Amino acid sequence: MISSRLPQNLEPNAVARALEARRRAGSPILDLTATNPTAAGFAYPKDVLQPLADPRALDYEPQPLGLWAARAAVAADFRRRGIVVSADRVALTSSTSEAYALLFKLLCDAGDAVLVPHPSYPLFEHLTRLESVTAIPYPLEYHGSWRVDMDSIARTANSRVRAVLIVSPNNPTGSFLHRDDLAAISELAAANGWAIIGDEVFADYALDPAPDAAAVLPGAGVLTFSLGGLSKSAGLPQVKLGWIGFGGPTALVDRAITAYEIIADTYLSVSTPVQASAPALIASGAAIRAQILARVRRNLDQLRSQAAAHPSIEVLKVEGGWSAVLKVPQIRGEEALVLELLEKDDVLVHPGYFFDFAREAFMVVSLLNEPATFDLAIGRLLKRVAA
Ligand SMILES: Cc1ncc(COP(=O)(O)O)c(C=O)c1O
Repeated sequence: MISSRLPQNLEPNAVARALEARRRAGSPILDLTATNPTAAGFAYPKDVLQPLADPRALDYEPQPLGLWAARAAVAADFRRRGIVVSADRVALTSSTSEAYALLFKLLCDAGDAVLVPHPSYPLFEHLTRLESVTAIPYPLEYHGSWRVDMDSIARTANSRVRAVLIVSPNNPTGSFLHRDDLAAISELAAANGWAIIGDEVFADYALDPAPDAAAVLPGAGVLTFSLGGLSKSAGLPQVKLGWIGFGGPTALVDRAITAYEIIADTYLSVSTPVQASAPALIASGAAIRAQILARVRRNLDQLRSQAAAHPSIEVLKVEGGWSAVLKVPQIRGEEALVLELLEKDDVLVHPGYFFDFAREAFMVVSLLNEPATFDLAIGRLLKRVAA
C-alpha cells in the first residue's frame, strides 16, 4: 500500500525510542540537536509578523514565480551579499525543501540521479527518493578544512546524473565551497550536461570563512540555482518563504524558467500574505540574523575553550553555519555513546552517521542553544566522551 519512495521500516530508531522514554520519565533533556531558532530565546521584534496582516493580501493574484515586489526584494537581498541576480531570475517557494522538489521535477526523470555531498543534510535522502531520484554521494574530506573529493565525483557519476548539489556553508561541517572546487565542479558539469544546485541557506552565517569561499551564481557557466530562504536568513522557518536564484547561460536559463513556471503554476504554494510581506520580512531579518550570529560565535568559542581541557576530543574547523563537529575517540560506537549521553546525562546529540560521515566517531552539536543550556550540555558531553 505504501510507495517504495518511503522507507519500508517506519519504526523509530534506538535513539528516538530512548528519547521518548526519557521524556515520558519527565527528564528535562539538554538538546544539542536543537536547530529551531524560534525556540532558542532570541528577542524577535513583537511586530515582526505584523506585515502578514496587510489588507493588500486580500487580493489574490496567482503568479507562478511569485509577486514581482517579493521577487525584487529577494534580488535586492542577493545584492546585499554581493550577488547580482535580476528579479526576473528569481522564483519564490514555500521552503528550501520545496525548492529541491521543484528542481528535481524540472531536471530529472524517474531513475535519474543527482550528486550529493557526504557528510551533509540528512533530508537529501527523502527529498531525492520522494521525487524518484537517486542520490549518488560524493565525499567531502577533512584535512584541516573540508574539501570536495573531485576524483570521486568523476569516478562515481554515471550517465543518469542531472545535477550536482553543493551546500555552502554545509550542514553540519560548516564548510564553504572553495573557488577552485567550484571551478572543477563547473568544468565537470559543463562536460556532462549537469546543472548545479547550490544550497546557500546558511550563507549569512560566516564564522571563519576561507578567503577563497565562492558563491555559485557569479560567473555561472552552466545552468545554476542558488537556494535561500527566511528559515535561516531571518530565523523565521514558520513563515515558509524560500527562493531560487537562477543563473548560467541565457538561453538555458530562459528555457529552464519557462519550464519551471509550469511546475510552479501547478502548485502555487506560496501564500499571498507571505509574498506581500516578503520585502518587510526580509528587511526585519537583519536584526534576528545578527542575534543568531552572535549566539553561534559565542557558543563556538565556549565549545573550543571547554574542549581545550580534553585533548582526546577535536573540534573540527567551523567556517560557517549553525553547528560544530567533534571528532571523538573511537572506543565505543557512535550510537552507544549517544545513548549513554541520553540515558545517563540527559544530553541529546547527533551521531556523525546521521549525516553520513564516512567513518566513526563524530558528534554534531548545534550552536543555537541559549548559553546556559549550551555550556551545561557541552560540559556533560565532554566529560562523558573523555571518560
Ligand atoms: C542545508 C539545509 N538546507 C535547507 C534546509 C531547510 O530549509 P527550509 O526550512 O527552507 O526548508 C536546512 C534546514 O536545516 C538545511 O540545513
